[in-house]
This record gives sequence, C-alpha cells and structure tokens, in this order.
Amino acid sequence: MSASETFIHRFEPATAPGPAPLLLLHGTGGDENDLLPLGRTVAPGAALLSPRGRTLEAGMPRFFRRLAEGVFDEDDLIRRTHELADFVEQARAEYGLPAPIALGFSNGANIAAAMLLLRPQVLSGAVLLRAMSPFAKPPVVTLAAKPVLIVSGSFDPIIPEENAARLAAALSGAGASVEHRSLPTGHGLSQADLGLVRDWLAQRLALAA
Ligand code: MLT
Repeated sequence: MSASETFIHRFEPATAPGPAPLLLLHGTGGDENDLLPLGRTVAPGAALLSPRGRTLEAGMPRFFRRLAEGVFDEDDLIRRTHELADFVEQARAEYGLPAPIALGFSNGANIAAAMLLLRPQVLSGAVLLRAMSPFAKPPVVTLAAKPVLIVSGSFDPIIPEENAARLAAALSGAGASVEHRSLPTGHGLSQADLGLVRDWLAQRLALAA
C-alpha cells in the first residue's frame, strides 16, 4: 500500500540541501494543511511531510481516540502510533527521505511522544508543543541521546505543568537529550514558540550537517 493510500497528507520536497525533513502533526480539529506555514517558518528549505489524523471526534480529525480531555484510549493510541510510524517509513521510501524530526502540536505532539516511546527509530528527534504524557506508565525504551524539545505554556488550561514535566522526565530517563521550556502563555502557540523552535532546530540541523 502506498503512503497516500493510508494517510491523506501533504508533502513538500526540500528546497535547500541538508536540513532534516519535518513530520508535521496537527492538533485536534486540524488537518494536513495546518502546520505547513509553521514548518516553512521554523525550518526554511526543509522537506515537510504532513499527514491528517485518521480518528474523528465529533467530525474533528485527531491522531488517536480519547475517553475525555487528557484521558487517552491507550489501546487505540498504541495501534494508531504504529499505523503512523508505518506511514512515515513508507513515505520515506517513496520520497527518499532520511528519518524526520517530528514537529507536533497538542494531540499531534502527544502521538509524536508516543512514537518516540514505541518506535524510536522512526524519528531523528522531536519538537513537542503543548505535549502531555501519552501513557500512564511509559514503555521501557532506549532513546540514545535523541534530541527532543518540549515547549509548554505555564497558563495552559488543558495540560498541567506536572504532566509535561513527567513526560520530560520519562524521555530523559530513556536517554533522550531533552530541553523542556515553559513560556508564559496558554495552550495556543505564540511568537515566542516560533523563535524557540527555529533556534533549536537551527542548532540541531547545524550539528547534523
Ligand atoms: C489530546 O487529546 O491529545 C490532548 O488532550 C490535547 C488535545 O488535543 O486537545
């Protein structure tokens, strides 16, 4: 099955040599178009792969089911994470891409975190914007210095700071190289997020070049 047959997605090829591709993962109610402008801003010239989540909640696309806000259907999350990881592997083969850095927002950040924990080899790193711990008990995994940036909002009404801190601790404990920043903002993204992500990616991409 081709990548297009599993996930509706947008793909923009790289326009500059070097930078790692970004896997863009939207929030609840978003789609494959949402994060393309963000991707172009924070990683100019990078290839962008942007799938649409295949679960619907009251007509809103998501990447996995939840039972209530912040309460996840972990069986569905596991299944959907493998499905998305398989899509990324298929798209990499079709488009000739190295392992991408995930850039996820909210629900998209949560499935990116789940992918780090369940299929770490699929991603070369991750930027998790307004993420929370995807699993009550994180699976045991080795993340061998994988770079991860978590950006939380200190006034986020959806994600308690303690929960994001738990995610950072789980990823660090598994060996990832985690930077966890908190901005004085809510659940939505701010200009400060863009600056942080752009600088962090520029550093990572320079190191990888
Ligand atoms: C989730 O369901 O993944 C989180 O609660 C964030 C959200 O998408 O609202």
